[in-house]
Amino acid sequence: MTSSYDTVVVGAGVTGLMTAYRLTQAGQRVLVLEARDRVGGRLRTESHHDSDFEIGGQWVSPDQTALIGLLEELGLETYARYREGDSLYVDRAGAALRFAGEDLPLEERTAKEIDRLIGVLDELAADMDPDRPWNHPRAEELDHVTFGQWLEQQCDDPEARDNVALYIGPAMLTKPVWSFSALQAVLMAASAGSFTHLVDADFILDRRVIGGLASVPAALADRLGDRVRLGADVERIEWDPTAPDAGADVQVGGERIHADRVVLALPPTHVQRIRIAPELPAEHRHAREHQSFGLVIKVQVEYATPFWRQHGLSGTGFGPYQLVHEVYDNTLHDATKGTLVGFVSDVRADEVGRLDAGERQERILASLAAYFGEEALHPITYVESDWQHQELTGGAYATSFDVGGLTRYGARLHEPVGPLEFGSSDIAGLGFQHVDGAVRMGERLAARVLGDPTAV
Ligand code: FDA
Repeated sequence: MTSSYDTVVVGAGVTGLMTAYRLTQAGQRVLVLEARDRVGGRLRTESHHDSDFEIGGQWVSPDQTALIGLLEELGLETYARYREGDSLYVDRAGAALRFAGEDLPLEERTAKEIDRLIGVLDELAADMDPDRPWNHPRAEELDHVTFGQWLEQQCDDPEARDNVALYIGPAMLTKPVWSFSALQAVLMAASAGSFTHLVDADFILDRRVIGGLASVPAALADRLGDRVRLGADVERIEWDPTAPDAGADVQVGGERIHADRVVLALPPTHVQRIRIAPELPAEHRHAREHQSFGLVIKVQVEYATPFWRQHGLSGTGFGPYQLVHEVYDNTLHDATKGTLVGFVSDVRADEVGRLDAGERQERILASLAAYFGEEALHPITYVESDWQHQELTGGAYATSFDVGGLTRYGARLHEPVGPLEFGSSDIAGLGFQHVDGAVRMGERLAARVLGDPTAV
């Protein structure tokens, strides 16, 4: 016998769980199908040597009001990232320079150029509705040039360009600046309120959740109870185009489940893992083929103590020429041991990804030592996040369009097809590629299922 629901949600990341939670509150009969044996998608906490490490998303910033509201609703508390003391900038020659505040220790001309570029990007972002970046007054022009080319057109100071590139390329989209458009870069800034927000680590990496950000999907799943089914890798969805109001059949592990509506709460890259019949319209398929995951290796290194604090350092460091391009104090709020988190992005991640694990660890620790000296070479625990090896994610942090894709296909990713709705943090406007965006998408998808056509 086929079981029947008002809505089936595919994917138990924050987008899917949020959709299901709101639909359940509205009185719907809902089932969430999750392929993995756990909820949370790109949010996960792992324990190593009696310490917890957030392997996926972890930070919350003040602009992320949808997530902050949900944390309050779920009764989850936050704590501030440690940030007392000087930060470090490792320059092209490999020298670690201390600095206080936001201004990098650069030559005056370079520092002024960075400020000017931040101003230009802030203005471009102010003209953008992040829900409709393709409507930006300069959308076509900005989408047809790579961010790297755009920076070269704007500025002749290489170190200024390299630093501005870092904030969007390695640090956010985790792709080389020659592979995405200037419009995609402006969307990243607009989604966080401004480019100024992105360059301010104290703003963008402000707080963490006690118990980890993965407590959010865990708390939502608790409230949904047996409406969430794990180990349910959806293989096929069928619907009848002559009777779109008749709903769809979802096939999982030999079982057929009927629903009036089906929400595919997946990164756009993963929609094509499911056989959809009739097949999606060509433009919907093309739109998703032009999206791809970035790649970053998140590395967490635990030491007997947070030794950098004794040297008056905050643990924050930037090095556009370093293997680890950014690093922060990631010590848990109640820990005595000290943890650093660093990131290796895009082509550098490709390169060290080809090494064996021991050699990669050696290279990454050597880069941390360029910031913090010899003490950084002697951790007690070393943890790498490996999302790129997991078929159900495939990269980190998220997906974005190739050059020209946002104006050509961006709007398509939001369109329903018959009884099917699509969404994830990767197509959010505000909170794009972040958990805040996943919360917003979940709210929006639920509103659409409940009949609000303005919830785009
Ligand atoms: P998500 O990918 O989480 O969920 C999709 C779910 O669908 C998965 O559980 C998957 O298993 C499931 N699935 C796929 N195919 C299926 C099928 N056929 N059938 C059933 N289920 C299927 N964000 C932030 O706000 N602050 C941060 O600090 C960071 N940092 C960060 C670091 C790292 C290393 C990563 C990887 C990511 C971040 N992020 C982040 C991004 C954040 O984690 C991300 O935006 C959201 O968790 C995405 O939530 P979604 O629900 O949209 O997708």
